[in-house]
Amino acid sequence: MSEELGELSRIDGEVRACRKCPLWKGRLNAVPGEGRPDAKVLVVGEAPGRNEDLEGRPFVGAAGKNLEALLAEAGLSRADVFITNVVKCRPPMNRRPSRMEAETCHQYLSRQVKIIAPKLILLLGDTALKQFLPDESLAGVHGRRVVKGGESYFATYHPASVIYNPSLRPTLLRDFQKLTELLAD
Ligand code: URA
Ligand code: SF4
Repeated sequence: MSEELGELSRIDGEVRACRKCPLWKGRLNAVPGEGRPDAKVLVVGEAPGRNEDLEGRPFVGAAGKNLEALLAEAGLSRADVFITNVVKCRPPMNRRPSRMEAETCHQYLSRQVKIIAPKLILLLGDTALKQFLPDESLAGVHGRRVVKGGESYFATYHPASVIYNPSLRPTLLRDFQKLTELLAD
């Protein structure tokens, strides 16, 4: 087992036992994240939803189907990336995680970033964007690379947003196509 795999599974264990913020109370299963320990792209969503909570895996519901289709636009599959979320436990009624919950959970995400050392951190939606680039807006930075503190970020709209707002689909497709170009350099 590689050293990275060992460290990532240590985080898995800590997350599954974690009670550091109130979100642990509503979970059936914590969702630490999954994927390649040496992924070039680390995908960050917002929080587990119902299906993710049931299975203990990220992006397995409708948003996951959309994400897989979008990754395919960039020539990627789930097997190529690492997928996780800002918070690892499902918020009640799928509400947005609070700032305190996101900050408390960030210790796990920041360790995942360090271990995986991705070429690009793909931020899906406003919660993920604000976690790493609090002064930016999606309208301002989506679809291009932003470098900050030695990390490269690429933000776009959340794949679930297409379910409620189909007019965003062409924008999301364009963003993922741009991602292909970035990963090729
Ligand atoms: N939406 C997210 O942000 N994350 C998931 O894991 C599933 C849906
Ligand atoms: Fe712990 Fe994060 Fe779950 Fe809160 S959301 S209980 S900080 S793992």
